[in-house]
Amino acid sequence: MATSSTLAVPQTSGVPRHIAIIMDGNGRWATRRHLPRTAGHIKGVQAVRRTVEACGRLGVRYLTLFAFSSENWRRPADEVSLLMRLFVKSLEREVVKLEKQGVRLRVVGDLSPFEPRLQELIHQAEARTEHNDQLNLSIAANYGGRWDVLQAMRGMLRANPGLAEHPEHIDEDALSAHLSMPWAPEPDLFIRTGGEQRVSNFLIWQLAYTELYFTDTYWPDFDRACLEEAVAWYGGRERRFGRTSAQVLAAR
Ligand code: FPP
Repeated sequence: MATSSTLAVPQTSGVPRHIAIIMDGNGRWATRRHLPRTAGHIKGVQAVRRTVEACGRLGVRYLTLFAFSSENWRRPADEVSLLMRLFVKSLEREVVKLEKQGVRLRVVGDLSPFEPRLQELIHQAEARTEHNDQLNLSIAANYGGRWDVLQAMRGMLRANPGLAEHPEHIDEDALSAHLSMPWAPEPDLFIRTGGEQRVSNFLIWQLAYTELYFTDTYWPDFDRACLEEAVAWYGGRERRFGRTSAQVLAAR
């Protein structure tokens, strides 16, 4: 299990081990061009591809992309349906390439409302890439941070019913082992494109000590240079994890 940033100071380096991204701005990118919003999502898939490749080159080991939040069901039905079709198409098209690139794909979130065909493709793609470990790509789909904490709580109590009688025995490790990405370290760098500065119910537990980077660039325009800029910004951060600067320097 990954080290908790609140229980111990994790080892870090100039390159983030784990990057988590909210890919925002697809709709506005399209509207600016007098195109339907869905054109922005289609273009967004190309930015996903570029980002996966660029992360591989930079030596990033974990990349988590917020593709569809629990709250995105509130969007117009045709947009939701296009997004679902895009997931299906992307999985069908990209899985062979991901396999060759050494990418392990996992989809995290409550997959139960997705149509059976999509669920099946997800399971196939996960199985097909499970031997890879160069880059761990997680797609958060029908994901919400609060959902994750709740489902972890339920999973923990199911596995250890005795804890309900002794809540004082519940600690961070007991709960976090049941979160939806127990294999991944906490994100070092969070990127949100599209100019908004909020976390929008993404990995709320895991972002406790993550460096937060916001850019006005719309997701479809996000490219290798944008990622390198974010990573360079990250490299200049002093990650104190509650310590003083003097302590950080002394620990180097
Ligand atoms: C936010 O932009 C983006 C989404 C809700 C969907 C993200 C999906 C993709 C990038 C394509 C599919 C991804 C994969 C992994 C196959 P927005 O629509 O909220 O933009 P806006 O804020 O400008 O309206």
